[in-house]
Amino acid sequence: MAVSWYAVLALAATALGATIGPTEKQILEKSACGRVWVTVHSPEIRLAASVTLLDAVELNWDFNGCFSTPTQIGLFDDRPQSWNNALAVFRVTSVEGHVITNMSLGAGTLPAGWATGAGTKGPQCLWPWVAAGDNNEIRAFNCLKIQPTWMEDAGPKINNLRIGDLAIAGTHNAGAWKFDTEVSSVSRDSFVLCQDRSIWGQLVHGIRYFDFRIAYYDFYDKEEDRYWLNHNLIRVRPLVPLLREIRAFLDVTREVVFLDAHHFPVGFYQPDGAPIRSVHTGLLQIVQRELGPHLALANQFGTGIGTRGPTLQTLINANKRLLFSYVDNSIVSQNPWLWPILPHLWANTNSPTELFQYLDRAIASSPSPSARSPLFSAMAQTTPTVLDILFLRGSLRDNADAVNRNVTARLATRWRTQANIISTDFFLGNDVVDLSIMISVERASRL
Ligand SMILES: *[C@@H]1O[C@H](CO)[C@@H](O)[C@H](O)[C@H]1NC(C)=O
Ligand SMILES: *[C@@H]1O[C@H](CO)[C@@H](O)[C@H](O)[C@H]1NC(C)=O
Repeated sequence: MAVSWYAVLALAATALGATIGPTEKQILEKSACGRVWVTVHSPEIRLAASVTLLDAVELNWDFNGCFSTPTQIGLFDDRPQSWNNALAVFRVTSVEGHVITNMSLGAGTLPAGWATGAGTKGPQCLWPWVAAGDNNEIRAFNCLKIQPTWMEDAGPKINNLRIGDLAIAGTHNAGAWKFDTEVSSVSRDSFVLCQDRSIWGQLVHGIRYFDFRIAYYDFYDKEEDRYWLNHNLIRVRPLVPLLREIRAFLDVTREVVFLDAHHFPVGFYQPDGAPIRSVHTGLLQIVQRELGPHLALANQFGTGIGTRGPTLQTLINANKRLLFSYVDNSIVSQNPWLWPILPHLWANTNSPTELFQYLDRAIASSPSPSARSPLFSAMAQTTPTVLDILFLRGSLRDNADAVNRNVTARLATRWRTQANIISTDFFLGNDVVDLSIMISVERASRL
């Protein structure tokens, strides 16, 4: 793979916007050939009997197609200027690879004012930086970033893309990020949590697509308390606060967000499979109440079967930036403002090899010419079997670790021209956010 661009992700977030180039200080990622990037190790690492390392920082490199490969890679806690400032240095002996450091990301607080509300526009670095080069020279560097305003930052370049032509980072089971409800046990923690950042945190990191699994429990008194985000049959979080996090983000940015009600595991259907209308209607009313002013209605912005949907510019001009897709066609046909079922490319396998074989084929043949939705999502995670869960074999964190680096590599190569949404677990373990921004810019440049 020849990844040879002069990566300048930092767009000047100044009053002059794109009319002036970024200064050296604003360049957060740079390389003449190849790339380095920072990820976070999703499983915990056991260092000693009672000592575990959580969120270890990983350093990744890919110098395929470059004239030469750097001899070393290092972790820094600031912009890399000199090897003397490195916290740790590792020898590089392969064209591509990664090392897991023994430093934890730590609290991972959102920088530049984004912890609870709008902060500084443009990409911003968390503390870990990576650099590669040889003894004297630093050839490539990058940092672990948030991308809170990437669509706006890249807007002058990508706004003419249709939504189906974007590359977008998404999260699988987006609400399954902290388990603080009634019951908790090892198996639930190992097999329920798919993410470790809140919805707000995911948005600030650059995630723009959420796969929501919504359930309904009629034993709660208040109607709005009855809707939950589930992982299959397990209640994880109440829905309304999550919608409010999305609302808060839309209120303070110009970003476009895709929300997908993709599965209704409990309470939405009769035993014979017929939808319970009142439960669906109740959900739609809550979504309209919480997100109403931002909703881009499908009957207003849809572009028809087999097309790629509206351009970003159309949505931004109308200031309608939340697209809500719904898995049940019978409900969509009665509520034409809903976006139709968004195909999930889902391998339903616990084998990484089978996952990639499936996704290689499925992405290459998507979208279907008769697709009702302009979007499709590659579900780039493995699925544990019932036996894995019963016998506590592995965990979703281990599963994510087994595929996330390959997802990054695939998106940079085989999936580069066709992929639309890439949904993953523990997304800090891959580089899909930054790569998808680059790929969207690249696609727009060919329009
Ligand atoms: C962490 O790694 C560095 C080298 O990268 C090493 O010098 C140090 O001893 C390690 N610390 C622990 C606690 O393992
Ligand atoms: C993932 O990538 C590594 C390194 O390139 C490779 O050895 C491995 O076979 C890949 N795994 C899958 C399932 O493709």
